[in-house]
Amino acid sequence: MQVPFAKPTFSGHEGEVVAAVIASGWVSQGPKVAEFEQRFADLVGAEAAVAVSNCTTALALALYAEGVGPGDEVIVPSLSFIATANAVWTLGATPVFADIDPMTYNLDAEATRRAITPQTKAIMPVHQVGLPADMDAFFALADEHGLAIVEDAACAIGASYKGARIGGLGPSACFSLHPRKVITTGEGGMITTQDAAKADRMRKLRQHAMDLSDLARHSATGVVFEGYPERGFNYRMTDMQAALGLCQLDALPGILAERTRLAERYNDAFAGVPYLETPYTPEHTERTWQSYAIRVRPGAPVGRTELMELLLAEGVPTRRGVMAIHHEGAYPGVTADLAHTDAAAADVLMLPLFADLTDEQQDHVIDRVLAHTAALAA
Ligand SMILES: Cc1ncc(COP(=O)(O)O)c(C=O)c1O
Repeated sequence: MQVPFAKPTFSGHEGEVVAAVIASGWVSQGPKVAEFEQRFADLVGAEAAVAVSNCTTALALALYAEGVGPGDEVIVPSLSFIATANAVWTLGATPVFADIDPMTYNLDAEATRRAITPQTKAIMPVHQVGLPADMDAFFALADEHGLAIVEDAACAIGASYKGARIGGLGPSACFSLHPRKVITTGEGGMITTQDAAKADRMRKLRQHAMDLSDLARHSATGVVFEGYPERGFNYRMTDMQAALGLCQLDALPGILAERTRLAERYNDAFAGVPYLETPYTPEHTERTWQSYAIRVRPGAPVGRTELMELLLAEGVPTRRGVMAIHHEGAYPGVTADLAHTDAAAADVLMLPLFADLTDEQQDHVIDRVLAHTAALAA
C-alpha cells in the first residue's frame, strides 16, 4: 500500500464557486476578500482580520506595523520553518534565535528572556505545528520589557489557549493558507488583530499604502483620486483565493474533528512503545493537528532517519520534524545555546496526517511503525 503524506481537503464544489467570482469580473481585493476577512475574524474572535498573499508577508507586515525595521532584533525559535526568520530579515531586522521547551517544542519563555538585548523590538512565538505557545509567559515578558508580540500562527487555525482561540488572544497573529496547512487558498495568509486602527493601516500597507480601498473607489459616485501618504507593499489576496477560503471555512470544523480523531488513533497505538515519544499537549491548550510528530528517543538502536528510510520503502512517506533554522547555510554563525532545538531537529519525524486519510491507510502506517519499533526494542 502507498499512503500519501498530506493532501488538502476539498468537497468538490469549490471550482463552481471560484468560477462565479471570475464571472463577476471582480477578481482581486474585492467583496470576497472582505467577506473572507470578516468570517475569519469572527471564527477566531478577533476584532479584525487582514488577508494577504501568504503567511511570510503576513508576519513581515505585522512586524512592520509594530515598527520593526533595520537595526532591530526579533526573538524567534530556531525550531521553525525558515519563513519565521526570513520574515524578520525582509524588514532589515535580525532574527535572534532562542531555544525551545523540550516537551512542547515551542519557544521557551526563559530562553527568550536571556536573548533580550537593548536592540530587541519584538518576540515572535510560533504555535508550532498547531500547538499554542505559552502565551501568558510571553505577554508578561513583553510587558516587562516594552516589546511587541507577533504570533506566528501559520499552522494554528482552530487552536485555543486557556479557552481563547489563537488569533483572538494577542495583539496580532499570522496564519498560513498554504496547501500543507489545515485549510488552504492555494497560497494565502491572514493577520488577525484586536486593534481596528492597526487593521486599517495594514489593509492600506498591503496595497502600497493607498489611502482609498478598491471597494471605496468602485462605489464612489464622484471623481476620486487616491493618495499614498507612506510607502507600502503589494501583499494582496485575490477574490478567487478568498472564495476558496470561504468554502474551506465551511469545511473547517469537520476537518479539525477528523484530524483530531486520526491523531488520537496514533496516540493510542503508540502509547507506551519503547523508544517512541508521542506529542505532549499541555492541559490548558487545545491543539490543531496540522502535523503528527513522533520522537525517536535518544539511545534507540535505530535512528530517526533510518526509521524514515525503512518506512518509505514500505509505502509510508514521512518528513523530518520541524527544521532548525540555525543549521541552514542561510543563517550561519549562530552561537546561542540551542541544545533542545538541536535534539528535536535530530530525533523527530512526522507521519502522514490529513482529513481524508482512511483508517485502512492509517492502520498500514501504524502497523509498519510498530513493526520497526518492536524490532528496535528487541
Ligand atoms: C511556522 C511557519 N511560519 C511561517 C510559514 C510561512 O507560511 P507561507 O508559506 O504561507 O508563507 C510557515 C509555512 O510552512 C510555517 O510553518
